Amino acid sequence: MARIVAGVATSHVPAIGAALDLGKTGEPYWQRVFSGYEPSKKWMEETKPDVCIVVYNDHASAFSMDIVPTFALGCAPEFPPADEGWGPRPVPVVKGHPELAAHIAQSVILDEFDLTIVNKMEVDHGLTVPMNLLFGQPKEWPCPVIPLAVNVVLFPPPTGKRCFALGKAIRKAVESYPEDLKVVIFGTGGMSHQISGPRAGLINSKFDKAFLDNLVDNPKKLARMKHVEYMREAGAEGVEMVMWLIMRGALDDEVEETYRFYTVPASNTAVGHIIMENPKKHGGKKKSPAKKTATRLAAE
Ligand code: DHB
Ligand code: FE
Repeated sequence: MARIVAGVATSHVPAIGAALDLGKTGEPYWQRVFSGYEPSKKWMEETKPDVCIVVYNDHASAFSMDIVPTFALGCAPEFPPADEGWGPRPVPVVKGHPELAAHIAQSVILDEFDLTIVNKMEVDHGLTVPMNLLFGQPKEWPCPVIPLAVNVVLFPPPTGKRCFALGKAIRKAVESYPEDLKVVIFGTGGMSHQISGPRAGLINSKFDKAFLDNLVDNPKKLARMKHVEYMREAGAEGVEMVMWLIMRGALDDEVEETYRFYTVPASNTAVGHIIMENPKKHGGKKKSPAKKTATRLAAE
């Protein structure tokens, strides 16, 4: 049986992609950001997922304003990088997993979540930047990826509650897939940021840190949060964080926090990142509370 072993949340700031592509990661401004992902890359190398499901949003790259699906599942064999105005990023083509993706589509749609099935799609920084942050800059991505694009750019995005429930349906789908596959699910976007209008540049670290705490221990509280609260507290683009709830819904109610990182700012955005693992049910040792506290403090 396939199983989801962990969830990863991370911001997907486009300038992080530009810093990587232009070889600026060693500059002090960027070093502060990239150093926070070194433990995560190591964790990913050790975890070696067979497949990743990456929940992200398209920024009018693959979908113009002509067609804006609420939830679009990538079922294609591959997803080339999108041209976001400066040519496609020099990153590998993302290979899909059409069999598992079709299985998820069937299970989730028959569970009454009306996904859009996408058989051809380019992927923008929303997906490729988190891939770089967790996998570095390899010639080929080390595992197939199933993209799940969520509309958070045109009002109304789906509610946090719906996203959380979709995560649960995705988990059920994965666990009914017969092949033994280790799956890691990503939630991307956020944290607080607003990139236009009078409040451009807004960052709310207090809100972001509470969001990270609740994501671990009280995700149901976050699932009740309304869009207006995201917008008011975390800025217009902060609403991207509803996507993290899809990832969180796909995990156990109780998770172990493996790692957390938060820094301000990168470009216009607060960068937040967390890795949570499902407790290992068979013989795995639960991490001691002391270790959990230590990771949290280290990330502050
Ligand atoms: C910025 C951040 C984003 O998440 C995004 O999609 C676009 C721009 C920014 O910080 O500039
Ligand atoms: Fe974004």
